[in-house]
Amino acid sequence: MVYSYPSILQREANELNFDPTSLYSPMKLLNWPFPALLAWGLSWLLYTLLQSVGVANSWALIGATLLCVLLSTLASNLWRRFLIVLGFPMSQLLLTSATFSMPPLAWLCLLVLIVLVYPLNAWSDAPLFPTPSKALLEMPEHVRLKPQSRILDAGCGLGDGLKALRAAYPDADYFGLEMSWLLRLLCALRCPWAKIRQGNIWLADWHSYDVIYMFQRPESMPHAVEKAHRELKAGSWLVSLEFEARDLKPTAVVYGSDGRPVWMYCAPFTTKASGT
Ligand SMILES: C[S@@+](CC[C@H](N)C(=O)[O-])C[C@H]1O[C@@H](n2cnc3c(N)ncnc32)[C@H](O)[C@@H]1O
Repeated sequence: MVYSYPSILQREANELNFDPTSLYSPMKLLNWPFPALLAWGLSWLLYTLLQSVGVANSWALIGATLLCVLLSTLASNLWRRFLIVLGFPMSQLLLTSATFSMPPLAWLCLLVLIVLVYPLNAWSDAPLFPTPSKALLEMPEHVRLKPQSRILDAGCGLGDGLKALRAAYPDADYFGLEMSWLLRLLCALRCPWAKIRQGNIWLADWHSYDVIYMFQRPESMPHAVEKAHRELKAGSWLVSLEFEARDLKPTAVVYGSDGRPVWMYCAPFTTKASGT
């Protein structure tokens, strides 16, 4: 069976209730993190209103938390719903507890730091989680590369993925692309042997790379498959730590010492349905 990326993309997107084509549309704010911001904002509003009309603090808190639970259904998956529900009482705790009391300027600095490390444009993909240092050591048994092969860590964070790749392929040429300027600078300092750029992995050109390595989110995978299908030359690889491209037949998969899978797909891809 010939691999057809729109059908794969659609099936994966349907399963995850996710529309990858909307990533860069003007309606992007309706995607994550908008449901979380909306739920927290409205819950705080209700909490303040209830208190202002004399409702006891505990009842105001219960009412606002229930609203937050209701609004959490706007999120596309269980994990995000859980985050939304947890977020409101957490923000209560942070703002009311003496232990966490900070001057407004400190809150502003914290907010700026969060946005620097995890810019809004990257919220559709993963925040900073490093690849464990030994996670990719078995990759060369399956992905054989010539010296000076070009490897891109798409969303390179602080460079832990690049370091883990280099431990497996000491002779390759390394490239990193990262949305956050701050992480891009720190990554360049930690990996002086790699070419690190600030940019968006979905807008970058993948044609020239032999391996695209990713450690993103399940929701990112349909988009990655579509892009890899369009841009990777035959014999190049899409490698994903932890998250599978569900409809593709992996060329190989290995499980690291912490049990995390490394999924490897060689272009041109085959679907699981094709069985070839
Ligand atoms: C889970 S971390 C992985 C970091 C690194 N690859 C590693 O394995 O150690 C994901 C990284 O991708 C970055 N990221 C998310 N979406 C991105 C995008 N669209 N373009 C570029 N970087 C992105 C995040 O800022 C974050 O640093």
